[in-house]
Formats: sequence, structure tokens, C-alpha cells
Amino acid sequence: MSWFNGFEKIVRADAPLREFTWYRLGGPARWLCLPRDENELTALLQRIRENGIDWRVLGKGANLIVRDEGFDGAVLHLRGPAFERVEIDGPLVTAGAGADLPTLVRATLDAGLVGMEVLAGIPGTVGGAVRMNAGGRYGEIREFIRELSLLTPDAEIVDKPASEIDFAYRHTNLAGAIVLGAAFALEPGDVEAARRRHQEIWRAKYATQPPMAARSSGCIFKNPPGDAAGRLLDETGLKGTRVGGAEISTRHANFIVAGDDATAADVLNLIQLAKERVREATGIELQPEVEIW
Ligand code: EPU
Repeated sequence: MSWFNGFEKIVRADAPLREFTWYRLGGPARWLCLPRDENELTALLQRIRENGIDWRVLGKGANLIVRDEGFDGAVLHLRGPAFERVEIDGPLVTAGAGADLPTLVRATLDAGLVGMEVLAGIPGTVGGAVRMNAGGRYGEIREFIRELSLLTPDAEIVDKPASEIDFAYRHTNLAGAIVLGAAFALEPGDVEAARRRHQEIWRAKYATQPPMAARSSGCIFKNPPGDAAGRLLDETGLKGTRVGGAEISTRHANFIVAGDDATAADVLNLIQLAKERVREATGIELQPEVEIW
């Protein structure tokens, strides 16, 4: 009997993951799990834990490198209506973990709410963005979170106010809990100005970063305190450096772009090489920002 007895409809064995990632690289998941609602997710997580299986949650794969060997465990993909819901009631906005962040940002503007436009141009799901405290120089998602709905490692669903969550730069301490959804508190305001800001940020990103269509995972390294990884990589002369089919973007040195013949190993080797070069040149130890499975 397999560990997923009774869950056969929602568990696929040896499922390719590449098409689930922006990089379109890497191997399969030993198991890809597609729970249809929170109850199914809870039951599945319990079963996964009872069987000592390693697991991860997959969002839109925008900040993810899957190794060529794939992931030897269970990948939980929260998609479908139960996880993608978005509700806007006055200034209160709630969204499921699987909701698309750029779509949510636009929906808040359409509802006359301002603030979230600073998250323009950040791809991914609400769950992924919350977990990574997604953001950039214009703002971070933590600024808008009022409450999170979490599935704890003990398979309990709890609501936690933002004040009880540890948010840091591109990091949230959720102690092994899965984000099910988030409630945001926004304000009505000058929507036309917010829309202009939204467009300006998109334009600024378009001008300085590889196009959204390029195969990348956004920034590879975190900015070290008081400095910019992109600047350090650029000054070390790394733009255009290639390993196999992967190249350090000639536009923004903190992006690695995958060509047609790239493997995940090419990207990972290039990350290693860039890290070593920056360490040799500056003594600074860059830390990856991207998730690596
Ligand atoms: N720079 C260079 N050369 C480069 C790239 C950048 O000299 O090739 C310099 C820039 O001129 C600037 C500084 O480095 O003085 C910082 O660059 P930028 O303004 O592009 O911002 P960033 O710190 O590299 C951060 C986020 C981005 C986010 C932008 C805009 C990190 C690691 N990166 O980039 O996030 O899009 O701000 O909000 O925090 C991501 O998370 O995947 C990501 C791309």
C-alpha cells in the first residue's frame, strides 16, 4: 500500500516540475500533490508527516530553482478555486495562498484601494510572496498584512495577526506552517496617482531588469546590508559570464538568465562561480535569495 492510499486522485508520481517554474528547468517531484481544499490539504499533510516524507509548497515557481535530479519528496501545489479566492470588502482584502499577486494588486486598485501598487512587477502567488516577504526598493508585502491564515505543522488551521509574525528582509519565520491565505488592510485613496506609480514601477523594472519573458528567477542573491548585490556582481565584471546555457544578465548582474540549452546545474554552477568571484574581490559572502530544491 502506498503512503497516499485514498488520495490517488490528487497525487501524481514522478511529475515534471519544470513547467511549474519560471526557469523551466529541473527534474520531477517524486510526488506532486494537488489538494482541492483546505481539508484535503490538512489530511494530506498529516499523512505526509506520519510517513516522514520531505515536503515543499509550490507557488508559481517565480523564485525557484529545481535541481536537475528533481525533488525527492512531496510537492504541495495549492491551486484551484478554494486556494485562489480574492475578496474585497471595503478596505479589507483577503486572498488565498494560490491567488496571483499581480492580479491581486490590480484588483485592489480597481476597488479604489491604494498601497499595494508598490508591489508592481513582482510575480508569484500570495502565499509565496507572504512567505518570502516579497518586495523591493518600493515596499514589502508585510506593510499590508493584517492577518495570516496558517496550517501549522500539527495540522491545525489558525489565524495569526501580523504582529505575531517575524518578518525580515525576504524572510518570514513561519516555523514550518503553510500559508493558506492572508488578510490585508488597505486604504481608500488617490487611485489615479497609485495607478501612475504602479506603471512607473513597471517601467523602471522593464528598463533595468531582463524582460519578464526571460527565463529567470528574479534576483539571485539578497542584497548584503548597506549594499546591492547587483552592483557588487557588476563591479566584479560578471555581467555576460556564462556556464553552459546560463548567463549572468547583461542588463542586471543579479539575474541569471537560462538559454534554450541550460540545465539547472548550469545555473547553480554559475551562482557558485559568482559567489566566489565576489568573495575574492570584496570579501563579501553573498547569500542566495532564490529557493533551491
Ligand atoms: N546595479 C549595478 N549593476 C547592475 C545592477 C544594479 O550597478 O547590474 C546597481 C544599481 O545601479 C543600483 C543598485 O545596484 O545602484 C541596486 O540596483 P536596483 O535598483 O536594480 O535594485 P536591487 O537592489 O538590485 C531590488 C530587489 C529586486 C527588485 C528591485 C526593485 C533584492 C535582492 N532585489 O533590486 O527584487 O525588483 O529592488 O524593487 O532585494 C527579486 O526579489 O527577485 C528582485 C529582483
